[in-house]
Amino acid sequence: MTSFSHMPPAVELTPDACLLLDQRLLPTEVKFVPIHTAPEMANAIVDMIVRGAPAIGIAAAYGVVLAVRNAVHDAGDADCAYEYLQREIKTLRQSRPTAVNLMWAVDRMNGLLRSLVKENALSLTDALPKLEAEALHIHQEDIEANLAIGRHGAKLLPENARIHTHCNAGALATGGHGTALGVIREAFAQGRCSMVYADETRPRQQGSRLTAWELMQDGIPVTVVTDGMSGLMMQNNMVDAVITGADRIAANGDSANKIGTYNLALVAKAHGVPFYIAAPSSTFDPTLADRSGIPIEERCASEVTQIGETWTAPQGVAVFNPGFDVTPADLITGIITEKGVFYPPYDFSKDFDTVVRPQEYISK
Ligand code: MRU
Repeated sequence: MTSFSHMPPAVELTPDACLLLDQRLLPTEVKFVPIHTAPEMANAIVDMIVRGAPAIGIAAAYGVVLAVRNAVHDAGDADCAYEYLQREIKTLRQSRPTAVNLMWAVDRMNGLLRSLVKENALSLTDALPKLEAEALHIHQEDIEANLAIGRHGAKLLPENARIHTHCNAGALATGGHGTALGVIREAFAQGRCSMVYADETRPRQQGSRLTAWELMQDGIPVTVVTDGMSGLMMQNNMVDAVITGADRIAANGDSANKIGTYNLALVAKAHGVPFYIAAPSSTFDPTLADRSGIPIEERCASEVTQIGETWTAPQGVAVFNPGFDVTPADLITGIITEKGVFYPPYDFSKDFDTVVRPQEYISK
């Protein structure tokens, strides 16, 4: 896998496991967790050992490979193995609801599995190397998409740009390199990024824990700010552009991303600061006309009431903890993809109609 970042891979397939960089422990500990089964992978996605829309798609594709490896090992090519695999694949597919990259990758793997085993009568043993190759291909495609996003996005920035970002849309959240951070990496390599402002990103601190750590690994200047500071910063002319990633983009350009992104977009609009989304085609969901159909994950209360073992709110208090919000298309200056930059009114139909969509597999 090629990228010019110095980051360790967030996800890696090995001959006997899938290694995940445990993102819950960063930045204090760099530890890899070996995952051996599809249910283990589903739990790792739920627990956010691996997180970020493209990375969980890649991890789930490898989860399908692990399921098939185990089926071949345990049951050989018994008739029941395919049906058992379908249950494991469903668990992977349902592990997180908002990032469409997850469903896209799982359905792409399952579509190939079905075609090989059901339509072409291959044994699981013979199908396995083709499924491994497909999962590795999904991973490599994502890195290449990120690199292209970086090249397209860097052209949008002024000299010495000061860029505000939210959450982590970097190498840790993707196959490597990153979407929003891919643009930042490319701009920095061209000598055109003077500072990155990383929102802390409550409640899981992906900005202060992950984005800050990731950018520091590559020597890119970064300043951590808390989520409520964007108004003050833009009022004081400290930000030239905002760039974030996305978890799901509807056909009209409405874009779901980490909770707090919408607020940032509103502040950017109020101050005339361009607000960009950077995402690969696997993040697009043309089956949804607009934001009304995007499922928003609600996570557990303890993410808000505690940091580690320490309570930061009274025990028993009511908590509302949606993991994502949706930035309406009219607040988005441009959407940076591997195919180029799209501007409002958004119409992706000509460019993304060849991309395999989850729905096509579900309906079979
Ligand atoms: O809950 P997370 O950490 O998985 O949320 C991640 C984000 O919101 C990212 O910005 C998004 O997935 C894009 S990653 C390239």
